[in-house]
Amino acid sequence: MSLPFVIAVDGPAAAGKGTLARRLAQHLGLPYLDTGLLYRAVGRRALDAGADPADPVAAEAAARTLAPADLERGDLRGPVADAAASKVAAIGGVRAALLDFQRRFGAEHGAVLDGRDIGTVVFPEARLKLFVTASPEVRALRRHAELAARGAAPSLDEVARDMADRDARDANRGVAPLRPAEDAKVLDTSGLDADAVFEIALSWAVAAQKAT
Ligand code: DC
Repeated sequence: MSLPFVIAVDGPAAAGKGTLARRLAQHLGLPYLDTGLLYRAVGRRALDAGADPADPVAAEAAARTLAPADLERGDLRGPVADAAASKVAAIGGVRAALLDFQRRFGAEHGAVLDGRDIGTVVFPEARLKLFVTASPEVRALRRHAELAARGAAPSLDEVARDMADRDARDANRGVAPLRPAEDAKVLDTSGLDADAVFEIALSWAVAAQKAT
């Protein structure tokens, strides 16, 4: 059976992929999955168990017992969850444990999924693959503004440093490193607002839908 319409949206932190993926899903009437939340929830569960999120045994156990309610918790954002998520995400057993859930989610009715490896590993056969990126300076400014709006106030330097660490871990890990799929359309959002990004991506999505 052929795969329903799946859009893979990958890219580094704070490039605008979540905002874009959510809008595309809403506009096209497709389910949406923020796959970063899965890794965040696994990181939190490892911390709850008193473990180091980089410990493969503890992290894999947390991933294997992940429940839908874990995705609803209120502490999945912020620097602690950011760092824990990127540590568990480097562990092959964690990624394998989360793969099935993601594939089932998309294969049922089609979907928009955002993450780091959707176009390369989870849905290499997706009909549209986007790699959404922006310069490190722009991404740090965006994340800083986002944190300030939520009442947290790390300095811009701290935000930039945390982001650079996370980017390096995501891009250099041995399993499913962050990189564009060969057939991904790369969208640099550095000089674009959210509406402009959406219009470009929507035109590609409409074309991809028509082509099949
Ligand atoms: O998109 P995000 O910032 O919520 O992702 C949190 C962490 O999880 C990030 O360090 C990368 C990792 N991640 C991943 O490795 N693969 C995914 N499909 C989604 C997120």
